[in-house]
Amino acid sequence: MSRPICFVLDGRPIEVGDAPASTMLLDWLRTEARLTGTKEGCAEGDCGACTVAIARHDVDGAVRVEPCNACILPLASVDGCGVLTVEGLGGTHPVQRAMVERHGSQCGFCTPGFVVAMAASLAGGPVTSHAQACDALAGNLCRCTGYRPIIDALRDASDTLHPAGATTDCLEPTRSAVGLPAWIGALPARSPEPLSFAAGGVQWHAPRTIEAVDALLAETPDAWLLAGGTDIGLWVTKQLREPRRWIRLGEVDALRIAAAGTTAFEIGAAVSLADAFALLHTDWPEFDRYWTRFASPAIRASGTLVGNLANGSPIGDAAPVLIALGSTVTLRRAAQPQPHRRELALEDLYADYRVQRRDPGEWIEGVRVPRRRPGRVVHASKLSKRFEQDISAVSLAIAFDEGEQLTDVRIALGGMAGTVRRAGSAEAALEGMAPTLEAFERAGAAIAADFAPLDDLRASREYRLAAAAGMLVRFWHARYRNEPAGVDELSLLSRQIASGRLDATGVAR
Ligand SMILES: Cc1cc2nc3c(=O)[nH]c(=O)nc-3n(C[C@H](O)[C@H](O)[C@H](O)COP(=O)(O)OP(=O)(O)OC[C@H]3O[C@@H](n4cnc5c(N)ncnc54)[C@H](O)[C@@H]3O)c2cc1C
Ligand code: FES
Ligand code: FES
Repeated sequence: MSRPICFVLDGRPIEVGDAPASTMLLDWLRTEARLTGTKEGCAEGDCGACTVAIARHDVDGAVRVEPCNACILPLASVDGCGVLTVEGLGGTHPVQRAMVERHGSQCGFCTPGFVVAMAASLAGGPVTSHAQACDALAGNLCRCTGYRPIIDALRDASDTLHPAGATTDCLEPTRSAVGLPAWIGALPARSPEPLSFAAGGVQWHAPRTIEAVDALLAETPDAWLLAGGTDIGLWVTKQLREPRRWIRLGEVDALRIAAAGTTAFEIGAAVSLADAFALLHTDWPEFDRYWTRFASPAIRASGTLVGNLANGSPIGDAAPVLIALGSTVTLRRAAQPQPHRRELALEDLYADYRVQRRDPGEWIEGVRVPRRRPGRVVHASKLSKRFEQDISAVSLAIAFDEGEQLTDVRIALGGMAGTVRRAGSAEAALEGMAPTLEAFERAGAAIAADFAPLDDLRASREYRLAAAAGMLVRFWHARYRNEPAGVDELSLLSRQIASGRLDATGVAR
């Protein structure tokens, strides 16, 4: 072992020298640290019972605090971090008082997770709207209390902690620690020595440079590259799999950079989903609503954009948008004397179900998303059974240049085939056409020529085809008739009722 895993737990410095690489933080907290306030519900990032707050240094040295699902977070990945559990909150945090006063707890099993998620959310700023409160709690489930008292408690605590009520965006990562114990603000810098150890025949490496990642991968091409671990964590907790070697990307500062260039956004392989979405917001605010439907704040804080693309799920939510925007990935492989690097259009990365056009040893260094050009129209929508924290049945993204005729039309769909891919016939049906309802209906019908979707428990083949066509047509109604579209249906309806355009039952006046 190079050195022990070092972190600060509820203000106490901790060194762990004997944990196997696949030990999850939750198991260690409950069985070794005997901090049993943090609960296990699902062990797959879905219920929030295991929520802790993680404090870590950004590349610029600032400390950020984020909610995290301890059940799928390998213990070794908190090396250099601060871990705040419900015990560490100490019983006097305003969210705890508000939960009591609002009767936000019945059996209490979910309560520690809610309390920590709320404290982490309010550390960065107030919650100023119902939608923002719902997003802050999207990763936490309660089976008995009901959510209204919990949301009320969050808003009360927000008023207590942020009396001025300045507005923040729920997609923005938290970079202050209002209401949290003082030790978080004084988090020691990470050890200068990279963490590397073997236990029970399994190796863990957290290199600090891209070249070190190359070298480790060249030795063991089948090592698991760990980005945020929000997919991999489940392979361990649910499928009981274990690799011979883990290589964690999160300590490589060069991969943690998300930058806005003049022609493209450059997003490194260790940039979290939350940071990537915040950067994309600069040019593409239309996608904000879609991104808030991506998992929960805790998953968006740990999971990475590149991890989502590398996992290559046919129902991954980032790929349709990034393909519609014409993004490319930078693939990289160790080679002498120079590493081999190549740029590949994202849509060309996916060959078939779980088959990618990556050579052995090639990994993804980053993704490049073109900046917006004037006149470009974009839209994305996702269909799933729940609004938040749910897997897509079908997702659609569209981009085009708008004029009297539509040009450079790009449509990408998820949930319709073994990979996310473009809908060539639907694109052709719109290319060069005026933006009429008939043109969008024809494009919707053409989707049936592009895809032969599967039936599965999420949706039937017919449903997927009809839904995808409906998403295009609904987008037309939203853009050209200002009528309800997709994910914003309810809020648009209520806005139209409030403005007097519709009566209280939703009928046009
Ligand atoms: C509760 C929950 C909700 C979720 N909700 C959604 C959702 O709404 N939409 C959605 O699309 N996904 C969702 N996911 C899936 C997951 O969060 C995303 O796919 C996430 O972006 C994965 O990123 P990661 O950094 O955690 O990847 P990891 O788990 O670290 O890695 C995923 C895969 O990519 C590989 N990999 C990672 N980085 C690289 C790289 N640079 N080069 C090559 N290979 C690499 C890994 O080896 C692994 O095979 C959800 C997951 C959970 C647990
Ligand atoms: S135990 Fe359910 S999210 Fe971790
Ligand atoms: S209070 Fe019982 S699960 Fe939430």
